[in-house]
Amino acid sequence: IDNMTEAELYTLYKGMYLPSHLHSPQSLAYFEGFTFRPDDVVIATYPKSGTTWMQEIVPLIMSGGDPAAVESLHNWDRAPWLEEQRASQLNLEERPSPRVLTTHFKYNLMPPSFFEIKPKVIYVMRNPKDVFTSAFHYYGTTSYMVKPGSQSEFLHKFLDGIVPFNSWFNHVKDWLNAEDKGHIMYISYEEMKMDLKDSVARIAQFLEKHLDREVIEKIAERCLFQNMKLNKMSNYSDVPQEFMDQTKSEFLRKGIAGDWKNQLTAAEAEYFDTVYKDKMKDVKYTFVWD
Ligand code: A3P
Repeated sequence: IDNMTEAELYTLYKGMYLPSHLHSPQSLAYFEGFTFRPDDVVIATYPKSGTTWMQEIVPLIMSGGDPAAVESLHNWDRAPWLEEQRASQLNLEERPSPRVLTTHFKYNLMPPSFFEIKPKVIYVMRNPKDVFTSAFHYYGTTSYMVKPGSQSEFLHKFLDGIVPFNSWFNHVKDWLNAEDKGHIMYISYEEMKMDLKDSVARIAQFLEKHLDREVIEKIAERCLFQNMKLNKMSNYSDVPQEFMDQTKSEFLRKGIAGDWKNQLTAAEAEYFDTVYKDKMKDVKYTFVWD
């Protein structure tokens, strides 16, 4: 993988860059033919927005706070990415309901069954400057992603969408413009940071799980960054170093809102804001970070 070129590392699927190591024509065909159930729960995110965090929260809610829900399976098996190679090997068709599933795909690329069944979706959004910061550190640790290069190079790539799953702007706008929003909950990383207990309660309500306050509190406590970091089923420590070198940067890296302030120069932040204003000018949604 070390000697592979950009073109070899990425597959272009319906205009979207995907790491070829994780996606194959077969896995994408599996995704396209996937049959949803009405009680599936789908976690949808642009990468680095809090996917793993939600993969911890949702199974704990669905199990009524049972730690085994997040200690017996790795996050990629307990809430598999439907478009990834691994999903097709998990025999999800036999998995008892309710299944927790994950996707990094845009709304408009969801498979036909999704639009018929309309399973519940939790779409997690994060301040794109922090998404950029997190991705900048993360992409340098994996052997199957194009190296970010210099910070300014990566900034332009990120803002132009020449990164896996393309533009953050298009991803977020696509999900926000979903035709039927009745089955989608929108929540931000920042809201979860500000009040995790309240966020867990709201997610439980959306999932129609009636949990006692103590259970909500126990789940929130478990999902605090420093606690979740210790869960080897969620901290990617079982991924071999040749694929993900966490000595360079940990997957559960800092877990804060606003780390972009430590990363971007004043000029870069200003440029980011200019692009943001232009790309998001028609968006009505009020983001916590605005
Ligand atoms: P940082 O790199 O800024 O620390 P994803 O799971 O979508 O790839 O997102 C990874 C980001 O979410 C990382 O951000 C990671 O530290 C953060 N994260 C994961 N679990 C978290 C938690 N329990 N609390 C806060 N942040 C968390």
